[in-house]
Amino acid sequence: MTPAAKTIPTFPDLAGKVAVVTGSSRGIGAETARYLAANQVKVVINGRDGAALQRVVGEIESVGGEALAVIADCTKSDQIENMRRQVENRFGDIDLLMPFAGSGGPIQPIEDVSEEQWNFLLSANLTSKFLTIKSFLPGMRRRGAGSIVLMCSSAGRAASHAALAYSAAQAGVAMLARNFAQQLGRYSIRVNAIAPSAIRNDRMAQSMSGADQESLAKTFPIQRIGEPSDVAAAALFLGSGASSWITGITLDVAGGKVMV
Ligand SMILES: NC(=O)c1ccc[n+]([C@@H]2O[C@H](COP(=O)([O-])OP(=O)(O)OC[C@H]3O[C@@H](n4cnc5c(N)ncnc54)[C@H](OP(=O)(O)O)[C@@H]3O)[C@@H](O)[C@H]2O)c1
Repeated sequence: MTPAAKTIPTFPDLAGKVAVVTGSSRGIGAETARYLAANQVKVVINGRDGAALQRVVGEIESVGGEALAVIADCTKSDQIENMRRQVENRFGDIDLLMPFAGSGGPIQPIEDVSEEQWNFLLSANLTSKFLTIKSFLPGMRRRGAGSIVLMCSSAGRAASHAALAYSAAQAGVAMLARNFAQQLGRYSIRVNAIAPSAIRNDRMAQSMSGADQESLAKTFPIQRIGEPSDVAAAALFLGSGASSWITGITLDVAGGKVMV
């Protein structure tokens, strides 16, 4: 099955809001930033590769959107704080926070997973999200409302062959969403997570043959691989007031492969 033609959904209440999407220089984060900008959201593009960030900002500005590139490694609290200061200087307190930065790791037998690799994957995929929320939360509380959408993964939703520490970190993200949601509901801040399964990114395009991608597609009840736009559309919904009675959930964007 081929992906549906790309129509960017519109949520009029998003217009004029300010969003930070971490890990948005490529892939899912970049597409989500484009979707937000198309809804007239002022969007902060983040990653560690300045040239890649500028490309996304350029694309958004070329179609009349507003974007700010901020280099920061989201595993480092001082760099996140520096990003927050740059964002607040330019746009003030933010409305939408989407901590999407993360990275995968090699699939190895348990006895071959080094302590260093374990700590790296926990830091990249779980601690980074805690640190990002901790930094931006005071501004969101001042704002008096907001939506946080965390990037999780199907690897954290059911046992799989994904890297052990990556899977454990992603299961932690789902719990982070629940606990934050419980604490922050009283401040009109909602917290949800999105758990994608296989989404076509640069790595997949480079490392999997067309035939392998077709075989993978057949393993999903909806017989195709996911696209970054599938995740971006879910992020818009969870960011907008259309989901105002939804908090603490993890939304599986997984072609039906994960049903929990
Ligand atoms: N693709 C999938 O199938 C899939 C499935 C489930 C979950 N996810 C999750 O979705 C997110 C995006 O995945 P993707 O496929 O779009 O990956 P991608 O194409 O590799 O993009 C990852 C993005 O995150 C940034 N990033 C990574 N580590 C960072 C750090 N420490 N600080 C700041 N930025 C960082 C990268 O930018 P720089 O390299 O410039 O820093 C890049 O913009 C990841 O968290 C991933 O775990 C993906």
